[in-house]
Amino acid sequence: MKKNYEERIRTLLSKMTLEEKIGQLQQCGPSLVGAFDVSFDELLNMMFDGRITREEFDRLMGTAEQDFHEDDLRAGKIGSYNGIGDSAAANRLQKIAVEETRLGIPLLFGYDVIHGFRTVTPIPLAESCAWEPKLWEKTGRVAAKEATAAGVHLTFAPMVDVAKDARWGRVSEGAGEDVLLNADYGAAKVKGFQGDDLTKEDAMAACLKHFAAYGAGEAGRDYNRVDLSVQRLWEEYMPAYKACIDAGARAVMPAFNDINGVPCTVNSWLLRDVLREKWGFNGLVISDSNAIAECVSHGIAKDKRDAAKQALLAGMDMDMSSNSYVECLKELVESGEVPERVLDGAVEDVLRIKFELGLFDHPYQTNEERESVCMLTEESRAIAREAAVKSLVLLKNENHILPLKSDAKIGIFGSLAADKGQMTGAWAIGARPEDCVSMVEACQERGISCQYSEDGKDMLKIAASSDVLIAAVGEMKEESGEAASRADITLNREHLALVRDLLATGKPVVVVLFNGRPLAIPELAEHVPAILEAWHPGVEAGPAILDVLFGDVNPSGKLTTTFPAATGQCPMYYAHINTGRPGGKSKFTSKYLDAPVEPVYPFGYGLSYTTFAYGELKVEKKEDAVWVSVSVSNTGERDGEETVQCYVQHVAAKRVRPVRQLKGYEKVGLKAGETKEAGFMIPFAELSYYDWDMNKIPCEGVLRVYVGGDSRAELMEEVVL
Ligand code: BGC
Repeated sequence: MKKNYEERIRTLLSKMTLEEKIGQLQQCGPSLVGAFDVSFDELLNMMFDGRITREEFDRLMGTAEQDFHEDDLRAGKIGSYNGIGDSAAANRLQKIAVEETRLGIPLLFGYDVIHGFRTVTPIPLAESCAWEPKLWEKTGRVAAKEATAAGVHLTFAPMVDVAKDARWGRVSEGAGEDVLLNADYGAAKVKGFQGDDLTKEDAMAACLKHFAAYGAGEAGRDYNRVDLSVQRLWEEYMPAYKACIDAGARAVMPAFNDINGVPCTVNSWLLRDVLREKWGFNGLVISDSNAIAECVSHGIAKDKRDAAKQALLAGMDMDMSSNSYVECLKELVESGEVPERVLDGAVEDVLRIKFELGLFDHPYQTNEERESVCMLTEESRAIAREAAVKSLVLLKNENHILPLKSDAKIGIFGSLAADKGQMTGAWAIGARPEDCVSMVEACQERGISCQYSEDGKDMLKIAASSDVLIAAVGEMKEESGEAASRADITLNREHLALVRDLLATGKPVVVVLFNGRPLAIPELAEHVPAILEAWHPGVEAGPAILDVLFGDVNPSGKLTTTFPAATGQCPMYYAHINTGRPGGKSKFTSKYLDAPVEPVYPFGYGLSYTTFAYGELKVEKKEDAVWVSVSVSNTGERDGEETVQCYVQHVAAKRVRPVRQLKGYEKVGLKAGETKEAGFMIPFAELSYYDWDMNKIPCEGVLRVYVGGDSRAELMEEVVL
């Protein structure tokens, strides 16, 4: 049962000075100080823009030490830290907070635990391809057990930004382009992270992000403006955030971007009217890194003081990293520009989450001993392998080139086949390269006959003595994630050249793709006989990939993001509208002169080593829902799993509706020759939509229901509502 801490919160608040209240709203990270005169951020910039070399940067970093701002902590000026994932450091700081500050209010430790802590699981985009909420919850639990053992109380995850533009680097951090999948993924992660009781030592509060519509940035450029109709915002983006709140997420991070002209950081409609009033959220709202100060660059605040004022009034409780609140709030409250009751509301939210996490009663939730036994256990590695296997998507398999025979002689090419550090993908701060198993290493462990060349050297010699050649190509982990948008999402020149050279040897070629976003790979799709999408699969990369390549496991992953044929098609997504002139053969239709109108691989797509056939589709109107059922058979010779997908199209609506929208999915395990029923109950409420005036209206008239193994499913029945 959820406990009520309101009385204790109010009593504590009544004892706090203005400075102590403001201190609770301050989150900082340890700063790095060393033999450099500039800030760490500036040093990083200097390296990225070439003012200093990588070597010089590394040398200077070697002199760096962490400054934890302990004097400020003692003075009650810090309520939370970000980025400390080490129980000894956390407990040392917690002791100062509890024993040396006037009121002894415990600290809250936040951290980006995005896809695992030490046991790094596949990047979220990859894991979403499993279409399996139970798995998402399970890996969330593993992450929480490890992170909390390292002293973390709050993770800045899940990210449920629906992302339809493959140019955006952060597509890697979420569950792809579909709102239902993001909602389910987010809710499952919240449950996994938080467990069933937040006061338990292995429960970690979830901070959903980035509220809202960060994934809709113009042209796929990170941090960019979001100019979106309110209807699309509510229909295609908001339900994913709402699902996390409904699942009990206790924190929210507003996004960097503006929505229709108002940055989310100072957007009182978003943070007060929607989040608190409409959705009833009473947890913690914490800014994105430095976002409050950045409102000056947005051109919405004249200085940091103005930004601090707007943010607090809009409902931003905690300031991550910008020092705007500690520097400006005292004066703003004393001058009456910010009413003290608004400040009190923010402080209450901070205290509430600390009470809910049990920090007042148990400020030290871990120790070095627990930390040392919790990491990278056999059990968590097994779960990471399961997740990696289920994330892999077989994109092409001509002439049944896969699975490989167990005695096949293979030649492996490309640095990604051996680079352990690359397997973790973006946002894996606690990861260690030595924890990861690469493809080459996994081959050696299995005793597979394999020759490896990182750069294509000795290609002809290796090809001559191999049955099959494997190219490990794609993106480095730095090429996706934050601040990693790309204006060209094709395969880079060297990787493409490697694949072409391998094809020229005449030997069968299998491409294993490592990447954090969909890539435009029409040439590969046409010429390479087999392609396995591996994403950035985490610590168990190598074993999982071999499980599928050698057929120990039948692949079952399905894409949660469309693979365009050309960058210029972006944003490309399955749930588009038709236009009055859908792209076709004739001239005056909606298409490109120099690129197809279709993607290379559609949303929902993924092959198996067996085949599935769909039987009769039945669609029935019930009292308040549409009931859909279909039989699915495994018509091949191997056991397998099929994710049955159900899409709808509203034929004549008051506002144009997507050609297809995912309304249900079910992963069905089928033995060779077996047939099972899959069924979906779609409540009318989930078919309703907004009209021009933002009235929610029911779906009426003809509804087409499509069922099949991907978003191009042709099996269709109509029902009249
Ligand atoms: C990112 C957030 C992240 C935060 C804290 C920001 O740059 O946008 O997603 O949680 O840093 O590390």
